[in-house]
Amino acid sequence: MLSEQDNTQSNLNSQLNAKQPFSRDELVTNMPDLLTGDIEAKREEIKRYFNLTFDGYERLFDTLVDDSIFYQRACSLRHPLIFYFGHTATFFTNKLVLAKLLPERINPKIESMCAIGVDEMSWDDLNENHYEWPSVEDVRDYRKQVQNAINKLIDEMNFTLPIDWDSPMWPILMGIEHERIHLETSSVLIRQLPIESVQNSPLFPICNETSTAPENKLVEVPAGRVDINHQDPAPTYGWDNEYGQHHALVEEFKASKYLVSNQEYLEFVEAGGYQTSEYWDEEGNRWREYTPDKHPTFWVKKDDGWHLRCMTEEIPMPWNWPVDVNQLEANLFVTGKASKQEQLFACHLKMSTIVLENIVMC
Ligand SMILES: [Fe+2]
Repeated sequence: MLSEQDNTQSNLNSQLNAKQPFSRDELVTNMPDLLTGDIEAKREEIKRYFNLTFDGYERLFDTLVDDSIFYQRACSLRHPLIFYFGHTATFFTNKLVLAKLLPERINPKIESMCAIGVDEMSWDDLNENHYEWPSVEDVRDYRKQVQNAINKLIDEMNFTLPIDWDSPMWPILMGIEHERIHLETSSVLIRQLPIESVQNSPLFPICNETSTAPENKLVEVPAGRVDINHQDPAPTYGWDNEYGQHHALVEEFKASKYLVSNQEYLEFVEAGGYQTSEYWDEEGNRWREYTPDKHPTFWVKKDDGWHLRCMTEEIPMPWNWPVDVNQLEANLFVTGKASKQEQLFACHLKMSTIVLENIVMC
């Protein structure tokens, strides 16, 4: 039988564990302002932002048709998804123990397996004989424990505004932003799973705005001075390498008016760009031999033409969406375009992050 104290703790835990429903618009929210506000209101704002993020990450894994998919390797050079499911909670624990905000580890076994190995690794690191992955249920329980511990910390923490690097709230903000990074990277891994392994989720709908691609062109960007001055404390959370001062004079250059679309990239696929070794550098040619596809990873050729693999669905190719390619394929586009058009487009794709007029993106 539970004691009164146990009962109180149990009630508290079940309250904390009760998932609040939320919409996609709530999940895609702004970071809390770290400079101004009322302390108690800020505490609630950060707590809500934390729970939205933590729960939103778990909801991403609802797109897997069953728990066995957690152990499938979506990418041959990365761990299965069970690692990423445990990893973000482990990151919180590691940072909070390091900051002495948590007295001890929550689950040393899961934490030892889910701390390291996010990036692509060599074949030997990925030998499955080296790993005895925890059950999905154990990781779910672990995540609940971590979430409860962080909610308690946020509730009881003494902090002041502005929140800076030395604030006890900083490691929590770091964990939240880290979780949001993995919301994106894990969604890409899920996108690489076989289509029959995934299912739709209302929290992650497909953008339904598609049309023909606009004609792209280069626009002149005049020379100018760029001043970056990001100091602590800042209005929003930033990673350590985002701080400091930098001043530079940038010469005039040209940039594409729009992100490079699937339509624009098709020209290179159909012109045999993937088969033309001269367009690729040494690393690109090694990658080209490694991958069997002669088109962008998420393009799917069917009897009725090109389709696009989204996270949980394949849809007729949205020609006006920006093409998803890796850096090596981006180089292919630049080199191929440059060779065709006398270097005119040399900075075309590389500069496409400087978009002067975005096309629809969801
Ligand atoms: Fe990470």
